[in-house]
Amino acid sequence: MNDRIRTDIAHNARVWNFWLGGKDNYPVDRKVGESVTGMYPSIGEVARADRAFLGRAVTYLAGEAGIRQFLDIGTGLPTADNTHEVAQRVAPDARIVYVDNDPIVLTHARALLTSSPEGVTEYIDADAHDPEKILAAVSPTLDLDRPVAVMMLGILNFVLDTDRARSIVRTLMDAVPSGSHLVLTHPTLELGGEGNEEAMEFWNKNATPPIRARSRAEFASFTDGLELLEPGIVSCASWRFAPTTEVAQFGAVARKP
Ligand SMILES: C[S@@+](CC[C@H](N)C(=O)[O-])C[C@H]1O[C@@H](n2cnc3c(N)ncnc32)[C@H](O)[C@@H]1O
Repeated sequence: MNDRIRTDIAHNARVWNFWLGGKDNYPVDRKVGESVTGMYPSIGEVARADRAFLGRAVTYLAGEAGIRQFLDIGTGLPTADNTHEVAQRVAPDARIVYVDNDPIVLTHARALLTSSPEGVTEYIDADAHDPEKILAAVSPTLDLDRPVAVMMLGILNFVLDTDRARSIVRTLMDAVPSGSHLVLTHPTLELGGEGNEEAMEFWNKNATPPIRARSRAEFASFTDGLELLEPGIVSCASWRFAPTTEVAQFGAVARKP
């Protein structure tokens, strides 16, 4: 087994897989996942709504917006409808680079590296705190002179300092041309997420990496200088969809002018 894989402490990628109903997790992940669900019962719904948002956003980007390049940072474990599957269903020539720093995601990367013959899928084992390293590694798979959809779904919440998180987003978006897009989801204590405070405190004592929520204003600051697409910043469950219930996870897509 990869010696970076710790089975004595819960890892976010594996617990997220547990909440999505997957099998790529250990007893320690299930135990923490169940405790969090006890404190914050809608967490499973949050995970499913986040994935459904991913599907709608990528379908729009590969379709109407004509995007052919995707940089998906904080990929997670392979599940149903991964970014390359959604994008290549619409545009078989779509090129996707996945980035995650979790060793278990790396061991499953092969499952993500299937691609349509016309497109390309690549995986980079890197930390979101080092956007320069990511940008250096994406070529030649991605051409940074052509529009890219930079996807950061459920990951800026692991960059605890908001100025640092803003600077990471700025570095990435400065490196891509006009017509590129930023796709974000992020947990919040707003939108009915108050119960998440206790759950996040528990998470930070029992699991890794540490997490935080952000306000609407903090979330909005990640899109400074970009044009928010309709319907703006909403619960990711409600982005271009009419859900029966909202979840406490902001979602937005913004375009670089
Ligand atoms: C909540 S999951 C979200 C997965 C997927 N983006 C989705 O929306 O379903 C967060 C992912 O980010 C990864 N992650 C957390 N911190 C990271 C970091 N500093 N650099 C790279 N990946 C990170 C975790 O390993 C995990 O796979």
